[in-house]
Amino acid sequence: MEKTLEAPAEEPLHVHGPLGVAVGSVTRTFSGRRGEVTALAGMSLRAAPHEVLAVVGPSGCGKSTLLELICGLQRPDSGTVRADPAVLMPQRDLLLPWRSALDNAALAPRVQGLSREAARARARPLFARFGLAGFERARPDELSGGMRQRVAFLRTLLAGKPVLCLDEPFAALDALTRQEMQSWLAGALAAEPRTVVLVTHDVEEAVVLADRVVVMSPRPGRAVAELAVSASRPRRRTDPALLALREQAMAALEAA
Ligand SMILES: Nc1ncnc2c1ncn2[C@@H]1O[C@H](COP(=O)(O)OP(=O)(O)OP(=O)(O)O)[C@@H](O)[C@H]1O
Ligand SMILES: [Mg+2]
Repeated sequence: MEKTLEAPAEEPLHVHGPLGVAVGSVTRTFSGRRGEVTALAGMSLRAAPHEVLAVVGPSGCGKSTLLELICGLQRPDSGTVRADPAVLMPQRDLLLPWRSALDNAALAPRVQGLSREAARARARPLFARFGLAGFERARPDELSGGMRQRVAFLRTLLAGKPVLCLDEPFAALDALTRQEMQSWLAGALAAEPRTVVLVTHDVEEAVVLADRVVVMSPRPGRAVAELAVSASRPRRRTDPALLALREQAMAALEAA
């Protein structure tokens, strides 16, 4: 007798507990004055709760689009995006120039309806931990690039979402400050684990920070390789295992 075929098993629904991020075969096309651009085609990835996932890929392959999809700021044309509540730290820091560092950091709780004082009270204790003590009243143009990024990151953290989508957070910084900020972020995540999707051009940054690295093809972007980074933390960027992974990721990028 012929057996009835069951519908293909769907990924389990996470009714209990966190889900992390699950992007399945997503396509996203933009139509503009110069015709259509397909940013993503068949893009899939997963990040488990508290996993740090790095995404590397060439310019224009749809990385920022991917993060906006995960944060619910855009919808896919086809495919599925499921994620715990996510907040985006955008590619530019977008600090309000006329507000103090403290009020910039406190923006998320403010937007969520807290009074100015209550929002400040949430942000204030974190300033010391983020190396910003004494700069509460400084305006963004009085801060260094690294400090501005820390304020922007603090604001992202204070949104209180389980998933952080970081879009090239350190790309604008000089090499030395970038390395300091990477160590600082690793420490911040060790103290306060979150699910992170970190978009970066920098393969070294990816292997230093992530549990897993997804390599994307040129546009239309999709995942073409995935590397597990099992090195223990804190990590040394000169660790031969990390150097080997960098080579592998570079090779995957070039082959994509
Ligand atoms: N709102 C939009 N309207 C029209 N086209 C868009 C829009 N957003 C993105 N695109 C196009 O989609 C493609 C992917 O853009 P996206 O910003 O996601 O790339 P990216 O990988 O983040 O690039 P980069 O590394 O330079 O930041 C690009 O060709 C871009 O021009
Ligand atoms: Mg981008």
